[in-house]
Amino acid sequence: MKKLFFCATLLISVLFGDESFELNATNPIKIDIISLKQNKVNLKNIIPQSTPNELAALTLYSQKEAINEHNIILASGKDFVALIDTGYEKTIDELKTALNARALTPEQITHVIITHSHQDHIGGVKALPNAQILVNEKELGFWQEKSSTEGLNIKTFAPNTELIQGSGIYAIAAYGHTPGHSVIAFGASGTSEAELFASAKFLFLADIFHAYELQAAAPVVASVWDHNKADAIEARKKVINALKAHKTSFIGTHMPYSKRVKFDENSAKIMANLIQSEYIGLLKAHSNEVGLSNGKELYNNICAACHGSKADVKYAGVVPNLCDVNTIADYAWHYKKGTRNRYNMTEIMQEKIKTLSKQDFLDTELYIKSICPRLAKSEEANKEAAGKSSQKSSTPKVQK
Ligand code: HEC
Repeated sequence: MKKLFFCATLLISVLFGDESFELNATNPIKIDIISLKQNKVNLKNIIPQSTPNELAALTLYSQKEAINEHNIILASGKDFVALIDTGYEKTIDELKTALNARALTPEQITHVIITHSHQDHIGGVKALPNAQILVNEKELGFWQEKSSTEGLNIKTFAPNTELIQGSGIYAIAAYGHTPGHSVIAFGASGTSEAELFASAKFLFLADIFHAYELQAAAPVVASVWDHNKADAIEARKKVINALKAHKTSFIGTHMPYSKRVKFDENSAKIMANLIQSEYIGLLKAHSNEVGLSNGKELYNNICAACHGSKADVKYAGVVPNLCDVNTIADYAWHYKKGTRNRYNMTEIMQEKIKTLSKQDFLDTELYIKSICPRLAKSEEANKEAAGKSSQKSSTPKVQK
């Protein structure tokens, strides 16, 4: 399965080069997807320790090495030539070469739309002397905290507004990765986010994804570069849902392609196959929600008899209540293997847990932590998680 996945990915990266296409909106524009660079990604560096379930998913994914492009967009209309993001400072030569290949000079760029102010997106602005720089109002302060904006012709925008008059290009808030991180809609019209998502003919996702296949299937997996992880996860879910609902084509900065893709079987058969493959199914099954659901079922069916339905019972008056144990999965795993016998009662538990896998213990720990008041963030969050997880419990279980 993994071999097949790897071959398919390789095939796609060979087939997909930079792409150029026309958008026949009210005001037609030409879009070029340009990759300035390829990066080999070690996913363990992108997504280091987070939750046990995310890590389990990561372990599966990272057995192959991923190659990401570094995409920017060139959008040419009747009276503007705009770039969406500019790459790194160190890829200015590549940027100039790419413009040159399209019979353009840096001086001819009239607008630069910044999705967010990380160095790999703003690094090229200094090579574009005549451009007006458009940046989200929440993002500008973040930019100025890190580097100077002096000498730049900057104009801020609010979300859901047209960025260049008559262009059909709009920014939609996808905050979290950075405070003002925006996705860019093309061929769109409307005044609300819902209208823009529905009308957009193409979306540039910027940094919604760093590990595309993994995060498309399991949006709860945040990358190290997501400044506010909770918000970034919500933004990722929101954007994925909109792309699926409207079958909009899209590309992001750090994706393994430089061509439009869709969450749609017809026009991106290979992608859809990948997303729906057994491999991705495994990743899905390791998401937090499914982990919680699996953990809840296991806990109530097996552990609760001795440790109590709230995990707070002191077994035989000796074994501490589980809410006071920090490394539950690890201890339980050692009990299964017979390498831990703290209270000389190992055998009592061993028989009951002998069929469980490491992932089952991780899932059980996740659930126990969600019901222990000391460990849980709030009762409210628990209820929400428990409610969500029980709805999901029909998801097939992972085979080990
Ligand atoms: C039949 C009763 C029983 C069941 C069922 C049971 N346990 Fe236990 N558990 C025990 C006993 C007894 C011990 C103490 C073992 C020892 O060290 O002698 C224990 C110890 C533990 C400890 C270690 C506590 C510490 O401080 O060392 C953990 C963690 C634990 N159980 C988790 C679980 C989980 C998770 C489940 C369900 C998957 C489970 N147990 C199911 C009886 C049970």
